[in-house]
Amino acid sequence: MMTGKAERAGVMGWPIAHSKSPQLHGHWLERYGVDGAYIPLPVAPEDLSTAVAGLKALGFAGWNVTIPHKQDMLKHVDMLSPEAKAIGAVNTVIRQDDGRYLGHNTDAYGFMENLRQVQPDFDFQGKTALLLGAGGASRAVVQGLLAAGVRHLSIANRSLDRAEALAGDFRQTFQKVPGLVCQAIAWNDASQAAASAQILVNATSLGMEGKSSLNLELDALPTSALVTDLVYTPLETPLLAWARARGNPTVDGLGMLLHQARAGFEAWFKTSVMVDEALRQAVLSS
Ligand SMILES: NC(=O)c1ccc[n+]([C@@H]2O[C@H](COP(=O)([O-])OP(=O)(O)OC[C@H]3O[C@@H](n4cnc5c(N)ncnc54)[C@H](OP(=O)(O)O)[C@@H]3O)[C@@H](O)[C@H]2O)c1
Repeated sequence: MMTGKAERAGVMGWPIAHSKSPQLHGHWLERYGVDGAYIPLPVAPEDLSTAVAGLKALGFAGWNVTIPHKQDMLKHVDMLSPEAKAIGAVNTVIRQDDGRYLGHNTDAYGFMENLRQVQPDFDFQGKTALLLGAGGASRAVVQGLLAAGVRHLSIANRSLDRAEALAGDFRQTFQKVPGLVCQAIAWNDASQAAASAQILVNATSLGMEGKSSLNLELDALPTSALVTDLVYTPLETPLLAWARARGNPTVDGLGMLLHQARAGFEAWFKTSVMVDEALRQAVLSS
């Protein structure tokens, strides 16, 4: 039940009808009895600045940002967090105590929190990782892994130039870290790089329902390596099924979505919430 003091937030994108965020946040609002609302905000690209001005005028607590506005939102907020700057995109906007709006990015946090919740004993410090993909989501993975202490990261992507640009950006961001290796490798070299990987991340869209499976030979990957997939439809992708069958620790991608959302919810509604099975089921059945 809302009162006149309810905090308001939402998710801005175009289109937005497919978004799971309203169900996700709606579950927490109801479960924790929060005086607040979270609504879909369909905003066409040409209306972005008017829409942001409107939400600011209405005093929204903040909002999530999705395709196609994540990069454009960088220009529409009053200040940026270090994560938003490093990743080059805003997925969460948070009203500050002084009324200004912070552009933040919680994807790296969501990615790492998911791994930490499911594999709490895994230590990232000094580890070697292999990342497949160099799209928008990969930027958050790189930020998360390097900030967590990974010291050797190879990025394999079908389009090598994209992996090179990504690796170059983060070498710059983490230039003060001694001995850090953050390099692009050719897609076909991923099989060889798998032999020394202690963490394997799929951040391509391969393995998603309706798309082809990952077409890489990864048999050299040690069975102790942590394997995670950002794709969560299906929840157990062919990569995760393969990894689980050979004994690798695995983490599915749904938790990343849930944990990145938690960071925004807690900032807007000043309420601590949990990512648990009830939430996973609520989102999966939506
Ligand atoms: N779990 C979560 O919370 C979460 C969050 C964000 C994204 N995701 C998922 O992560 C995946 C990537 O998202 P994104 O935003 O980074 O997408 P994106 O920017 O479109 O990037 C797609 C990536 O997949 C690669 N790719 C596509 N088709 C390929 C093919 N046939 N062979 C080899 N590589 C191929 C692309 O390589 P090129 O550069 O060569 O095109 C690129 O690296 C999506 O499935 C998305 O649903 C999950």
